[in-house]
Amino acid sequence: MVTSLLLAKKLEEDGVRSFTAKEKMTLALGALLHDIGKATIDKNITNKPGKLTDEEFAEMKKHPIHGKVLIRRLRPALETVFGDAVDMNIVEQIVGSHHLRPDGKGYGIDPGVDPIPKKINEIHKALSKESSVEGNIKVTNSGAIIYEHDGKSKTIYGTSKKDDEVVTETSMKTFMAGIENEMSRLCEKKQFVDKLDIHDLVWIVGMADAFDAMISDRSYRLGMHPTKVLKIIEEEKGKQFYAPFVDSFKKIIVDYPIGSIVLFRDGNVGIVTEAEKSGGKCEIVASLFGDIDVVGEERKFTAEEVFIGTRRVNELENALQEKAKPLEGEKIVLAAKDELENFISASINSETLEEILFKIRPDPVFEGSREAFTKSMREEEIER
Ligand SMILES: [Fe+2]
Repeated sequence: MVTSLLLAKKLEEDGVRSFTAKEKMTLALGALLHDIGKATIDKNITNKPGKLTDEEFAEMKKHPIHGKVLIRRLRPALETVFGDAVDMNIVEQIVGSHHLRPDGKGYGIDPGVDPIPKKINEIHKALSKESSVEGNIKVTNSGAIIYEHDGKSKTIYGTSKKDDEVVTETSMKTFMAGIENEMSRLCEKKQFVDKLDIHDLVWIVGMADAFDAMISDRSYRLGMHPTKVLKIIEEEKGKQFYAPFVDSFKKIIVDYPIGSIVLFRDGNVGIVTEAEKSGGKCEIVASLFGDIDVVGEERKFTAEEVFIGTRRVNELENALQEKAKPLEGEKIVLAAKDELENFISASINSETLEEILFKIRPDPVFEGSREAFTKSMREEEIER
């Protein structure tokens, strides 16, 4: 939710789009509820620590339409609480379409062309009005739907006639689930996704959601560093991300967030303590070549001075291996890696710093060759 609101604020500051108070509230509520449909997906899938199989992902892809159905059910209650302060039609669009993309890919519902036939919509609405999901449903040969519960029966859809024959009898729960499954199936049809008529608040939530997913850690992968995310956002402008909002979006993403590890071109390693758009302030915690005089220094820096920016010590090691192009057979190993990791996760205070420095000082942190490192930096500068 925070990312969506930050983006809206930046769009206003940049003069790209202004928002009424109602739009802001709608955006906040939509962003808060956008993934509500995940509550209906099997917990073994939503909480799976590893990557999803194709089948599991197909199931997961139902969460926008399930969310839209849930919002429809909750709508009377939400309208009671929020009244005119929010536009519930747009909230419904946000929930149902936040995985659609401007290029027509992605998944979810096209709110401009509701793919759910009127009849199914009406049946679903009629079923949703019942206060209980207990009881039975009978469908007659004339298409009437009769609901029986607590010894009472009533026709909730169509008109039942005296000589009607019951062709299907099932529990309310099963019938409701069947209708909702059918709604999901219909919404997956590509033709509905192609005719896009999306409110732009939907794009804001979609962009913010994709960004949050990219930077978040998963059990099977670490979150990406913002510099990499920024590159992807630029590459996906007009494809995954709504082009008119991309420039403002990039402005709210700082290159090196607080807590990032930055390896400078001079071999010093710092932990960012203050973030600015393309740089910030950091505290030097190590030097790749064991130069201790710089450790503990506060340093103001710009993006140009940074050789590698990462979020984890492991990532720094991997990035070095990839970027510093060590000599044949030479593996880059960060000595005192655990200490560095502990230091990063601990709150930054001089006592901890002293303790860590004491451990780091005896040996150089970097075991690759200085020549390989400086050579790779020169090569990279030529590329820039
Ligand atoms: Fe989602």
